[in-house]
Amino acid sequence: MALKSRLSNLLLSIAAASAMLVSLPTLAEDSLYTRLGGTYNIASTVDHLVDKIYVNRALNANPALKAVHDNVDSKAGFKVMLTNWVVQETGGPKIYVRDEFGRGKSMKDSHPHLNITNREFNIILIECLHTFYAFNVPAYEISQLMGSLESYRNVIVTGEKPVSEPVRK
Ligand code: HEM
Repeated sequence: MALKSRLSNLLLSIAAASAMLVSLPTLAEDSLYTRLGGTYNIASTVDHLVDKIYVNRALNANPALKAVHDNVDSKAGFKVMLTNWVVQETGGPKIYVRDEFGRGKSMKDSHPHLNITNREFNIILIECLHTFYAFNVPAYEISQLMGSLESYRNVIVTGEKPVSEPVRK
């Protein structure tokens, strides 16, 4: 085959490959935020979850957690911050930000004073799982959410050595 014709074949192949690449983003998976149905759905699940957590007797056996849960003024704000965190974590708008009141800290900086144990972390994960089922979240999205939460264990559990290999630094 003549060099000219081989070159034009090559250019055609590159053009075809580029066209495929341009259409790739439409094939990619939507963000978890989109698949969960956005802020309103996330806020509903957080609302339910936090109500359960505040009255969980095993968690309230930890005095530091009980102190937060006994403060009636902490609940509404906590729901806002947790909703913002989940929105951002799942690929929605970046609305979990630090403010001058010390809210919006990283997961590592917002939990050490609570001396959270693996058992308490597990209780939270179980409450999350229960909430996801109660709100009919599909299995695939549940597995992604649970994987994301689990990856924070080693920065949140400070009451004892985390049982998992460090994921977050
Ligand atoms: C991956 C799991 C977790 C996530 C995503 C998460 C998320 C958050 C967020 C977003 C805040 C607000 C931080 C701020 O405004 O600066 C927060 C604070 C808090 N978290 Fe967690 N958390 C997790 C695990 C836990 C666990 C396991 C417990 C207890 C067993 C817990 C108890 C608390 C409490 C009591 C506060 C309020 C602290 C205070 O106001 O002094 N969290 N968490």
